[in-house]
Amino acid sequence: PRGTHRDETGRVVVAGVALTDVVAEHGTPVYVIDEDDFRSRARDFRAAFPDWDVYYAGKALLTRTVARWAAEEGLNLDVTTLGEMRIALEGGMPAQRLGFHGNNKSEEEIAFALAQGVGRIIVDSFDEIARLEAACVEGGHRAKVLVRVTTGVEAHTHEYIATAHEDQKFGLSIMGGQALTALVRCHSSQYLDLLGIHSHIGSQIFETLGFEVAIRRTMKLAAQFRTATGVELPELDLGGGFGIAYTSADTPQPTSDLAAAFEEMIEHECRAFALARPRLSLEPGRAICGPAGVAVYRVGTIKNVELEGGRTRLYVSVDGGMSDNIRPALYAAEYSAAVANRTSDAEPVLSRVVGKHCEGGDILIRDVFLPSDVAIGDLIAVPGAGAYARSMASNYNQIPKPPVVSAKDGVTSTMLRRETLDDLMRLDVGQ
Ligand code: LLP
Repeated sequence: PRGTHRDETGRVVVAGVALTDVVAEHGTPVYVIDEDDFRSRARDFRAAFPDWDVYYAGKALLTRTVARWAAEEGLNLDVTTLGEMRIALEGGMPAQRLGFHGNNKSEEEIAFALAQGVGRIIVDSFDEIARLEAACVEGGHRAKVLVRVTTGVEAHTHEYIATAHEDQKFGLSIMGGQALTALVRCHSSQYLDLLGIHSHIGSQIFETLGFEVAIRRTMKLAAQFRTATGVELPELDLGGGFGIAYTSADTPQPTSDLAAAFEEMIEHECRAFALARPRLSLEPGRAICGPAGVAVYRVGTIKNVELEGGRTRLYVSVDGGMSDNIRPALYAAEYSAAVANRTSDAEPVLSRVVGKHCEGGDILIRDVFLPSDVAIGDLIAVPGAGAYARSMASNYNQIPKPPVVSAKDGVTSTMLRRETLDDLMRLDVGQ
């Protein structure tokens, strides 16, 4: 997080709290979120995109506290399930400021969203449009909708997190014609108020080219919709996906530069298709909470492996792993790491930080240089861990999920408590 430094004794300090003190209070592994950092990134988006609506993507990390921060910073919230809706509402995010996503929303979820007065529902399929209309009839509601479209953009990111190419599960194809059909279908429904088009091309993206193509294709679609109906769509949502720096190899653009690029592209396409500027929205998740978080583990065992060519690699085992951060195993995601409880003058050696799960692929950081005197009991801090780590945690090997604590002005506060083994044992109700 911003402002992270080492104190005079060499301990890493986040938001005014030494990680050793966080660990003394909360144990390891632990996820620490710097509240001011989260808030400042939220403000950066609001400042860079002043007349846009910014929906924080709750899938990255959502707790009641996080929902409250987002609400206080003037963000809206992107939710995808009943669980996310409930946390958001309980955290004080008004239902009006929720955008409800998902490619397989259940009847229960739709009914809940309508009853709460969720601000917008992003419809993902013809089946869902029918399901939503039926729910409107049933409950006497109207629904504001955007149609999630597939723009055909091949975003340059990991296959599993690219979402705009044709051959994947999300959205209605522009090229195949379903997107226009769905828009017209929603427009002519007596239960739905069609707001516009939604596009999300993928996640952890650094180049603006994919967004440029998505903007061109969605605007062109809006023009085709106007030709078909005589009506201009009032809104366009461009989703999230803005990349962050996990290692020094990643070079994200400042949010203000992104905004300038987006503005230029929008202006250009509005002119090209003679469309009025729609109301615009974005859904950043990772870019707001990723850099605000750090995971802290404790080293339990160390082994030195001789590699070919006389080189060696230190295997540093920590007390978490793929159950609290699946990203390296799932996407070959890279992270950096540092010893957080002290500095060392020892020579840096090629190391691999691994978890405690019964699986060889349980690697947190494939290649990282750690001081050769790294020792049992040392704390390993992994920055950039605020997004899609704890939120994707599992109980693989019956490991309880770690807590998430917020840190601000030298004080920590628990957002999500650590799971206990008793929590897990209670779920096993068989004989
Ligand atoms: N909007 C929609 C419709 C999305 O599906 C997503 C992410 C976002 C916004 C936010 O994207 P962001 O700004 O955070 O990149 N688990 C993966 C990422 C999956 C993203 C899913 N959807 C990872 O750990 O990299």
